[in-house]
Amino acid sequence: MRKIKKIIFKKNKTKIVSLSAYSKNVASIIDNYCDIILVGDSLGSVLYGYKSTRQVSLDMMIEHSKSVRMGIKKALMVVDMPYNTYRNPKEALKNAKKIILKTKCDAVKLEGGKKIYQIVKTLIKNKIPVMGHLGLLPQSDKTFKYKGTKKIERDRIIKDSQLLEKAGVFSIVLECIETSLAKIITQNIKVPTIGIGASKYCDGQILVFDDLIGLNPMNYKFVKKYANIRNEISKAVLNYSKEVRKIKFPSKKNSY
Ligand code: KIV
Repeated sequence: MRKIKKIIFKKNKTKIVSLSAYSKNVASIIDNYCDIILVGDSLGSVLYGYKSTRQVSLDMMIEHSKSVRMGIKKALMVVDMPYNTYRNPKEALKNAKKIILKTKCDAVKLEGGKKIYQIVKTLIKNKIPVMGHLGLLPQSDKTFKYKGTKKIERDRIIKDSQLLEKAGVFSIVLECIETSLAKIITQNIKVPTIGIGASKYCDGQILVFDDLIGLNPMNYKFVKKYANIRNEISKAVLNYSKEVRKIKFPSKKNSY
């Protein structure tokens, strides 16, 4: 709970830095710089090549989270509840408890607003911290389109953010929403908003680690690639293959 309070306390003071990661080695590096590390169900598309995050199972999330847990010493660790694991309060509670027990994470993340209000309330009543997720919802949206162009949609997302706050979430991810809408939501709720494709007006920012380092070949408007790791890997593997073929590696130094 101390870690959760620290995140909430950052609102209007300092930006919250967050990344999605799926393994121990990566988590152990980014833990030095992140306030929140999310084991996102984006791993379905990023790592497994699935068409949607709907194919991600609870077991996959748990195994990746166990790996990530080993790399984290200080950041708050959040785990996505995958599709069809929180269809009603009873199912959500059973699966959230399982995630927390097996992965020792600090909180879970669920997608949606009004539809999951009772579910979120049930988890929080049972002392399970919840992060909300509004805007583009990869588990239910069929097309990749940013949100908040129509008044009806804007009003609904604002209402949903207020409902999630009322239910007791400690923060809300805003994914791919129009700039002024992100600003309004951020100004109108007391818990921090964490944006991805949601402008500089959110209280924090999240990206998928593989996108940030340029490992994922996909290009999205909301991603800035801070490195081109695909090139670095190519260069390293090219050198390795040349040295193996020329019998330069393994050398005496690498042999017993
Ligand atoms: O699955 C994920 O990685 C996420 C973030 C992109 C917010 O939900």
